Amino acid sequence: MREAIHNLEASKIREVANAGIGRADVLAFWFGEGDEVTPEPIRQAAIASLQQGETFYAHNLGLPELRESVARYMSGLHPTIDAARIAITSGGVSALMLAMQALVDAGDEVVAVTPVWPNLTAQPAILGARVRSVPLVPKAGQWTLDLDALRAAVTPATRLLVLNAPNNPTGWTLTRAEQQAILDHCRGTGTWILADEVYERLYYEPTQNGCAPSFLDVARPDDRLVVVHSFSKSFLMTGWRLGWLVLPPALVEGMGKLIEFNTSCTSVFTQRAGIAALAHSAEITPRVVAHLKTCRDTLVPLLAELPGVQVAPARGGMYAFFRLEGFDDSLLLAKRLVAEAGLGLAPGNAFAPQAQGWLRWCFASRDPQRLVQGVERLRNWLGAQVRA
Ligand SMILES: Cc1ncc(COP(=O)(O)O)c(C=O)c1O
Repeated sequence: MREAIHNLEASKIREVANAGIGRADVLAFWFGEGDEVTPEPIRQAAIASLQQGETFYAHNLGLPELRESVARYMSGLHPTIDAARIAITSGGVSALMLAMQALVDAGDEVVAVTPVWPNLTAQPAILGARVRSVPLVPKAGQWTLDLDALRAAVTPATRLLVLNAPNNPTGWTLTRAEQQAILDHCRGTGTWILADEVYERLYYEPTQNGCAPSFLDVARPDDRLVVVHSFSKSFLMTGWRLGWLVLPPALVEGMGKLIEFNTSCTSVFTQRAGIAALAHSAEITPRVVAHLKTCRDTLVPLLAELPGVQVAPARGGMYAFFRLEGFDDSLLLAKRLVAEAGLGLAPGNAFAPQAQGWLRWCFASRDPQRLVQGVERLRNWLGAQVRA
């Protein structure tokens, strides 16, 4: 096996989850998905497609109808995006990997803003790239970008800058001014930007267009920018494996070839479900986001009341990222919480070494009372530590 693969770190989130497997009494918030099933019209569209016998290979870049639907949807949120720039992928993960394969050679330098979901740093490492990190800085629980540090790190030697905002796990988001400054800098250094914007609709600040600031709002179509999207979060479709890329026109043909050699195409019934999701987006997504905001606003104030907790409300995404004073080893703490409190959280150091001591709590819960119960377990456990 190649050394790059051998050296990949096993998932620390899985390590914690494995410690709780088979225990029905654990309240689990460790994975990044909710517990609500995909809305009915989306499921029905897939069923209808299968019943009509749509069981064959399709175009590498996706069904023209879905590419058109995605372009219309994106153009409603951002400046007009042509369907010819859209590639349909088998999930956001595959979209990310395809983008990296298209842009990164072995030995290239990739800069990633961290903490970040581990796939974004593992994927360039798999390709043999050298990954450098620009750390976000926590200030009163809120993680912030040091723009000067980012400008210093991204040089003409940097092939690709990887950013995920709204961010998993910190809830950090970018402002439009920051996006413009990053784009200007990368234009100067000739660096590609890979913007993971899968959480763009899960944004809790007031906006006009119902989504977080996007690089697509400031970039030209021919900028060195690739944007990754997913149906997983805004349409409750994690298990379907459906996402898309927004590409500069010059990358589209090559992307079709790459998809041929990765997955060939996304299954047609899944794409039909995607068309239905976008047709119903005006009902589905605002409901999902309003519910997630209720979840966030249930969880975060309760967490903040606990002694020694450092937390701030996430501006976007679906995670509370917090620190408990006196517990500096995230993995050990997360395992102890499973074993001793029946509470399943993800360890912060799964997302970057500088997030050692932090924990991630996915607040996407159909029943917000589960979050209240979870905090109760944490409160009781903390109380027992003080007494011990
Ligand atoms: C930051 C980020 N990007 C991409 C994805 C990929 O989502 P999917 O492959 O389900 O579309 C996730 C999933 O959790 C994520 O957190």
